[in-house]
Amino acid sequence: MSFQNFCYGIVAVAGISLALFGKSPPAPPAPYPPTPEALRFAAAEAAYPFHNASIELPAGDRQFQGPGAEVANANCLSCHSAGMVLNQPPLSRAVWEEEVRKMRTAYHAPVAEADVEPIAKYLASLPRP
Ligand code: HEC
Repeated sequence: MSFQNFCYGIVAVAGISLALFGKSPPAPPAPYPPTPEALRFAAAEAAYPFHNASIELPAGDRQFQGPGAEVANANCLSCHSAGMVLNQPPLSRAVWEEEVRKMRTAYHAPVAEADVEPIAKYLASLPRP
């Protein structure tokens, strides 16, 4: 056997052993003694065990009503309830237009330019207490 072949042999055996027996290092064990955070968490879990609960959310199905409401229903209910809009003091059409534009610029509401005016017109037309 030539020296060169001997070297190839060594490299091949090393490669195969690495492929067969090479393992990634094991995850570090949990610290012992446990950290103060871990102890506090365990104590809290023992004192207040988690359990499932069913809650009733306040009715959020309120929609805009009346003529012209569709455009507001389509644009203004994805982030907050209609109540957020309807519980405002009476505002002029121009101020409502500003408000709708604010939703677009400040909160990135995807309201089409063509819908801004109809929404403002509808909101200004609503009867107010
Ligand atoms: C992309 C999400 C989003 C959409 C869509 C959206 N809004 Fe808002 N709106 C917000 C956020 C956020 C607030 C602030 C909530 C808070 O202060 O708790 C808000 C608040 C409001 C307020 C309360 C006053 C104020 O300026 O904070 C009004 C009125 C309002 N929105 C009207 C509308 C109208 C009309 C539409 C439909 C054109 C609309 N919103 C669509 C995100 C949105």
